Amino acid sequence: LADLTSTLDARLRAAVHLALAGTTSQDVDDDPQLRRATRPEHGHLQTNLALRLAATTGGKPRDVATALLAHLDVADLADVEVAGPGFLNLRWRPEVLARLVTTLLTDEHLGVPRPQHPRRVVVDHSSPNVAKQMHVGHLRSTVIGDALARVLAFAGHDVVRQNHLGDWGTQFGMLIEQVEAEHLDVGALDLAALDALYRRARAHFETDPAFAEAARRRVVALQSGDEATLTAWQSLVAVSVEAFDALYSRLGVGLTHEHVAGESSYNAALPGVVSDLQDAGLVTESDGALCAYLDGFTARDGSLLPMLVRKADGGFGYDATDLAALRHRVAPVAEGGLGADQVVYVVDARQSLHFEQVLALARSAGWLPDGVQTQHVAFGTVLGEDGRPFKTRSGETVSLDSLLDDAEAAARAAEWGGSMPAEERDAVARAVGVGAVKYADLSHGRTRDYRFSLARMVAMDGDTGPYLQYAHARLCSLLARAGDPAAPAARPPVHPAEERLALALAAFPGAVTTVAETLEPHHLCAALHDVAVALSRFYEACPVLRAEGEEREGRLALAAATRSVLATGLGLLGIEAPERM
Ligand code: ARG
Repeated sequence: LADLTSTLDARLRAAVHLALAGTTSQDVDDDPQLRRATRPEHGHLQTNLALRLAATTGGKPRDVATALLAHLDVADLADVEVAGPGFLNLRWRPEVLARLVTTLLTDEHLGVPRPQHPRRVVVDHSSPNVAKQMHVGHLRSTVIGDALARVLAFAGHDVVRQNHLGDWGTQFGMLIEQVEAEHLDVGALDLAALDALYRRARAHFETDPAFAEAARRRVVALQSGDEATLTAWQSLVAVSVEAFDALYSRLGVGLTHEHVAGESSYNAALPGVVSDLQDAGLVTESDGALCAYLDGFTARDGSLLPMLVRKADGGFGYDATDLAALRHRVAPVAEGGLGADQVVYVVDARQSLHFEQVLALARSAGWLPDGVQTQHVAFGTVLGEDGRPFKTRSGETVSLDSLLDDAEAAARAAEWGGSMPAEERDAVARAVGVGAVKYADLSHGRTRDYRFSLARMVAMDGDTGPYLQYAHARLCSLLARAGDPAAPAARPPVHPAEERLALALAAFPGAVTTVAETLEPHHLCAALHDVAVALSRFYEACPVLRAEGEEREGRLALAAATRSVLATGLGLLGIEAPERM
């Protein structure tokens, strides 16, 4: 429909020029600014083009509208009428809607156009820290990043997932010392135990100067490649990665250990990053540290904000590592890079300054060729029901596993699936619980904070994941009862509820493209929710199994197209679509 809307747009512009031929100069505002009609009786689309034209060229708006109509050639697509003071109301031809439904039924790509210039897109997402449990912020990064990776790939781009694991830094000195002090076998621990170890190490570090000194020496040993230290570090990483993998598979995201490109993997490149910046005159020394000061980055008092490229002790930090990662990502494949045309960072909005600085410095250094797009895909904070950052009652961050446990329990308690075998019911509860959490996360405007309310997200009605899953499951059973017709023939919609559903379905390809361009998954959520709402009106008004002949066939076609839009759409969001609920 997005394509056809641009066609209408172009034909309206052509009509303006034909209608005005010879009477005015060329530079009249011919932009139709087609809008969705606010009321069904106004058709599907509306424009105030004639009113705007009349204001500049003189004449009565209704006359201008009539003149436009006389030159407008859209009969193959839409019916047009002049309304009120001179609005043009357009209504898609029923055959056009039937054709779109047919496309959804027959094209395995569901009418989503292939991009003219496919991009190679690096999606940096999840990126948790070793020896720490993921928190809800990482959940957002994981879920949003996974949906974007799926949508971009479906839209025809070449996606490279990257998990920028926090697997390097001074904290490993104290972690390894603590392991030694407690004679622990890291391989026998799980992530929760490492998290606790981390906290003990921190406390130890703060209270025992001798331990702190040993921890600092450990950092040096790690950086200089001491074997025993490296082995200890590796086991901390291995235990963590295994736990992250388990969580990724529980979440049903497409991320695995194969996508891990941790901070440590950029170690060897860091000295080169710094010396290139030095050669370019972009860093200055300050108290032994190397800093970059960039125009436009000022603190409240007006002084320039430094970016720490190398610390006074010679160590490198988060900034330098991200610079090295970016260079690697945009470097051509032939030179061992990832060859990205677009790099997106799915990271908490609170890191905006970091990414602005990294990207600005990389641009000044000439490391970001013009054709490469970079975006910080920022997201807001998850709040508890009280509107404060989401924490457990005792004030700790909530582990993702416990959060998913709760979501599954809530899903199990919801009212569905009465007659299912226990095993299937379990699988469905998992799909519904995880789907509810993901949908809630994806359907809110990405940069906004949102309140985490399990009761609301698992509800079977409203703008929720389970509502969409249920709509899908119900269609599966309807179509099964109809004998799963292979290719029912779409029919131009007759009933307003059929038309409404066809229109909602027709918006799907455009929504996918919009998400691939804006990197905002909520547009797809909104389009799917609109489909599900239109579907329930359709059920109320239009019997399917009891209908006959062409009517039945046409309704089955709508049902089948709806099932495939919901299944594909939920799949693109990374949400399972069970066949029964
Ligand atoms: N490990 C970081 C954190 O937990 C997120 C890393 C995001 N990606 C990046 N390229 N900096 O906050």
